Amino acid sequence: MLGQSRFIFVLLAAAATCALAQHAPPWTEDCRKSTYPPSGPTYRGPVPWYTINLDLPPYKRWHELMTEKASTLKILVNSMKNVVNSFVPSGKIVQLVDQKLPGLLDNLSGPFEEEMKGIADVTEIPLGEIISFNIFYEIFTICTSIITEDKEGHLLHGRNMDFGVFLGWNVNNNTWVVTEELKPLTVNLDFQRNNKTVFKATSFAGYVGMLTGFKPGLFSLTLNERFSMNGGYIGILEWILGKKDSMWIGFITRSVLENSTSYEEAKNILSKTKLLAPAYFILGGNQSGEGCVITRERKDSLDVYELDPKNGRWYVVQTNYDRWKSPFFLDDRRTPTKMCLNRATQENLSFSTLYDVLSTKPILNKLTVYTTLIDVTKGHYETYLRDCPDPCIGW
Ligand SMILES: *[C@@H]1O[C@H](CO)[C@@H](O)[C@H](O)[C@H]1NC(C)=O
Ligand SMILES: *[C@@H]1O[C@H](CO)[C@@H](O)[C@H](O)[C@H]1NC(C)=O
Ligand SMILES: *[C@@H]1O[C@H](CO)[C@@H](O)[C@H](O)[C@H]1NC(C)=O
Ligand SMILES: *[C@@H]1O[C@H](CO)[C@@H](O)[C@H](O)[C@H]1NC(C)=O
Ligand SMILES: *[C@@H]1O[C@H](CO)[C@@H](O)[C@H](O)[C@H]1NC(C)=O
Ligand SMILES: *[C@@H]1O[C@H](CO)[C@@H](O)[C@H](O)[C@H]1NC(C)=O
Repeated sequence: MLGQSRFIFVLLAAAATCALAQHAPPWTEDCRKSTYPPSGPTYRGPVPWYTINLDLPPYKRWHELMTEKASTLKILVNSMKNVVNSFVPSGKIVQLVDQKLPGLLDNLSGPFEEEMKGIADVTEIPLGEIISFNIFYEIFTICTSIITEDKEGHLLHGRNMDFGVFLGWNVNNNTWVVTEELKPLTVNLDFQRNNKTVFKATSFAGYVGMLTGFKPGLFSLTLNERFSMNGGYIGILEWILGKKDSMWIGFITRSVLENSTSYEEAKNILSKTKLLAPAYFILGGNQSGEGCVITRERKDSLDVYELDPKNGRWYVVQTNYDRWKSPFFLDDRRTPTKMCLNRATQENLSFSTLYDVLSTKPILNKLTVYTTLIDVTKGHYETYLRDCPDPCIGW
């Protein structure tokens, strides 16, 4: 684990390189073609499927999966502890997490508290650390999400999940520590009631919220982090201090996937529920025009930007910046995403073209854990683990 000063030095060096680099080869490349079906060095492998039975009591739902993944999750939780301890070496923070966080769980609505308790017991990881693992995603997720509509009104939804920035770097092979440790924790989940699929999602074993998923025939949903001065830290602090009237963002997406029954209902809940952290929700439906990016402050929705195919808006793209502002100059994945979609044209939309776009650097980068492709009406859902071998940008 890198010490703090070394770590910051590496970051600054990386930032300086990227300032020059993100707009130039070999860090960027021409829009990729013929990358699908996935193969080659940017494809790490398939993601295994597991069934989560919602008819079981919440405490027991994750038992089978977590028994299998306990040792892998321990490695990741230890890395996160090392990061925290490298900033505050006394070990006080981790001690606080272990002792105090569990007491703050009351008033989490829904099944989340019991599910996290079940996971903590079966993995023998302290509950406080499972809770922080579940909070981490409210802070460190950097992603690209896309919804497209073809000439026949058929929708597709794609996303890259990029995660792990600022949490340590492997100098041996130029990868992010946490990003690499998340790959073996990545799972596809089929949530069932009465032996029937309610929704499908991709998650990290041990995380009970959802960041990527769909309800076959009805809607698809992905969550991207939104940075803001009035950001997640404040919301989480308020929550810890006892102001528990807002939802964790990963938990609201889980609730919507589990219990909403239409695009409109999902859109309404995602626009109006008070949140702990700002966020972008990217929501797709099952018919023409049903695709939007909801830009959220903690209290309100700032903007709902929807497909408008009649007026030529046949896709929506969201990275981690408000669409009416320029992206951070070190991190522009929006421009290449749009360029590659425009080049593919509305005539040629398929899983294949979406995967090509999501495989193009820097949309694909060293933080990319997985790529998901969703076709709501056909009920198709595919997730692939990714790698970005050198030369490849850090984010
Ligand atoms: C928990 O919820 C109840 C009822 O909604 C409320 O009266 C109570 O103050 C809440 N507790 C905390 C710690 O927020
Ligand atoms: C890089 O090294 C780390 C730690 O040794 C390992 O876990 C990871 O799988 C490696 N990643 C690649 C892409 O080689
Ligand atoms: C689900 O299927 C299993 C095996 O096929 C069966 O034993 C069980 O009773 C079913 N459960 C429900 C709720 O239908
Ligand atoms: C979905 O609704 C059921 C029934 O009201 C409720 O028990 C469950 O906690 C809800 N699920 C989530 C994730 O909120
Ligand atoms: C599309 O979604 C609506 C709910 O928003 C549902 O009533 C309708 O049956 C769905 N259409 C198809 C073809 O599944
Ligand atoms: C779109 O697809 C058609 C037919 O497969 C092909 O001829 C054309 O070159 C493609 N256009 C682009 C921009 O890829």
